[in-house]
Amino acid sequence: MISLHETALLKVLVGQRQSVPPIWMMRQAGRYLPEYREKRKDAGSFLKLCLTPEFASEVTLQPIRRFGFDAAIIFSDILIVPFALGQQLSFVEGEGPKLSPPLNTENFRILREQVDSERLVPVYETVRLTRKMLPPQVTLLGFCGAPWTVATYMIAGEGTSDQAPARLFAYREPALFERLMDLLVQSSIEYLAGQISAGVDAVQLFDTWAGVLPADEFWRWCIIPAQKIIAGLRARVPDAKVIGFPRGVGTNLTRYVTDVAVDAVGLDWMVDLKFAREQIQSHRPVQGNLDPLALRAGGDALDRSVDAIMAALSGGPFIFNLGHGILPDTPIAHVERMIERVRG
Ligand code: CP3
Repeated sequence: MISLHETALLKVLVGQRQSVPPIWMMRQAGRYLPEYREKRKDAGSFLKLCLTPEFASEVTLQPIRRFGFDAAIIFSDILIVPFALGQQLSFVEGEGPKLSPPLNTENFRILREQVDSERLVPVYETVRLTRKMLPPQVTLLGFCGAPWTVATYMIAGEGTSDQAPARLFAYREPALFERLMDLLVQSSIEYLAGQISAGVDAVQLFDTWAGVLPADEFWRWCIIPAQKIIAGLRARVPDAKVIGFPRGVGTNLTRYVTDVAVDAVGLDWMVDLKFAREQIQSHRPVQGNLDPLALRAGGDALDRSVDAIMAALSGGPFIFNLGHGILPDTPIAHVERMIERVRG
């Protein structure tokens, strides 16, 4: 269901520049907020927080109430999809996510042939609850991880710095890896269509680890799966709106914008602003790209970074965001300062 309300963010997604760009932050519901830490404690675990609609909806709304952002992003995690495919999922305090068993050629059979919809139902319920409570001018975003990024966690069983386990798997067992990609493409289509029918206005595809791949592999494991997801999703929901976020891919971004029919492209903080304006924003609306560490630092570094981004990108269709998720030790006053400066 596409909202009847033409929100500022949805206008940008159809190419209309806004005089004040809409703003939201990746990981805007998170540990830098005392009210989030409180709810997480009440829930008992991160997974419980994700899978209990009343809790998940509450934390989705927290940053909207506190800062008046233009978009709310459903509180969940990209690793819910491997969980729905049969891997066990836990989040170990201070260590990050664990998926078990880590996927290899021998245990590949443990995966289901399609997602267990029962495991995704709490997310859809979170969407419905949140929709009811969200002010009409605020866009509701759903998301999933892109197949490559999700596969890196499924194969390593945890986060790694260079995703070597998944890269080796893809080189050594390309046919099996392709099967995994296809399974994740189908699962993502189903999951995103489910979120849209529950009430999100647009979805973001997070390809956080796209940047570790050589150009040919980026084509094979990031661009092609994104094309398949968008085609499959729009076969079910013709006007589905999608923001793509291929992180760390540098000049390969030009291939992404010409070959993937996303409605906007998320830019990480390393992307050069002149390149972003001339080679990316000329094709698609863009979103980004404040360095989360500039936000953490505050002061002059924050002001200068925000001003440079606004000067480069606010002349075209643009959504202000960070270049990756907000860091847990970011002062709330810095977030307030950023918003003031963007809204003028
Ligand atoms: O953006 C939002 O506010 C919506 C919720 C959201 C979370 N994770 C909540 C979360 C979203 C969109 C994600 C996406 C996600 N999850 C990605 C892609 C985007 C990115 O940030 O790169 C990835 C790679 C994951 C997997 C994941 N989940 C990792 C690597 C971690 C540990 C890192 C960390 O910050 O601790 C998580 C945990 C996680 N997901 C937290 C939150 C708020 C922190 C958990 C906690 O409260 O302890």
